[in-house]
Amino acid sequence: MDCTQLALYTPPIHQEMLISTMEYHFENLSRPLIKISQCLEPGSGVGGAQWNAGLVLARYLSKEIQIKTGKSIELGCGLGLISIVLSIMGFQVTATDGNYALLNWTRRNFEANLNDSDRWSIEHLIWGENEHIREKSLEEWDLIVGADVLYGEYASMIAFINTLISLSRSETKIYVAQQIRYPDSEEIFLNELKKSFEIEIIKNEEFPNIVIYKLAKINIPA
Ligand SMILES: C[S@@+](CC[C@H](N)C(=O)[O-])C[C@H]1O[C@@H](n2cnc3c(N)ncnc32)[C@H](O)[C@@H]1O
Repeated sequence: MDCTQLALYTPPIHQEMLISTMEYHFENLSRPLIKISQCLEPGSGVGGAQWNAGLVLARYLSKEIQIKTGKSIELGCGLGLISIVLSIMGFQVTATDGNYALLNWTRRNFEANLNDSDRWSIEHLIWGENEHIREKSLEEWDLIVGADVLYGEYASMIAFINTLISLSRSETKIYVAQQIRYPDSEEIFLNELKKSFEIEIIKNEEFPNIVIYKLAKINIPA
């Protein structure tokens, strides 16, 4: 992650970035209080803060997902909030990110919020590196999630979509939350997604500039 990518972000509310531990209450969870330590150290990149798109998707999934078992994978997990919520709901979760420095911090958040009986793992995964996905047997998921993962850069979009394609089958439920910062590049992202996925767009009232894309892989005959 370089400084150019970082500059493309609108940061979360400034005061919130300075709070070392954020507390979130999820009324639908058996363990409703989740504490997320933010990592403000150099090297954590943009994933060291909790982003609103991640919070919006975590809240949505905690309310809307009916089948709460199976295997989930999160791409660009940052501090791990969404996977922590899914784990408490009953999923066997794998949280992934391309930033090694951040993954140690994610692990701390998992250990602080999850029980011994919760089934979770954390993996290093860079989008588009499909050989790496195969090596680690990171295939065949029931649920794939990601929040605030794209910053208007075409190569990243394509790499991200290729990873979604590699990890999914037509039954896989996929949810990607995006804060719309660059409407033109979001349009390009949607057009690229449409080549391989059916898309439902879910809006929310609290953060009107954040949308959730619910995706289903199209079965393309070989
Ligand atoms: C803005 S943060 C969002 C973090 C978290 N999902 C949230 O909502 O708070 C974007 C995350 O994507 C990760 N990321 C960016 N590019 C990536 C890539 N090419 N492969 C894997 N992870 C990447 C970053 O390390 C960072 O954790």
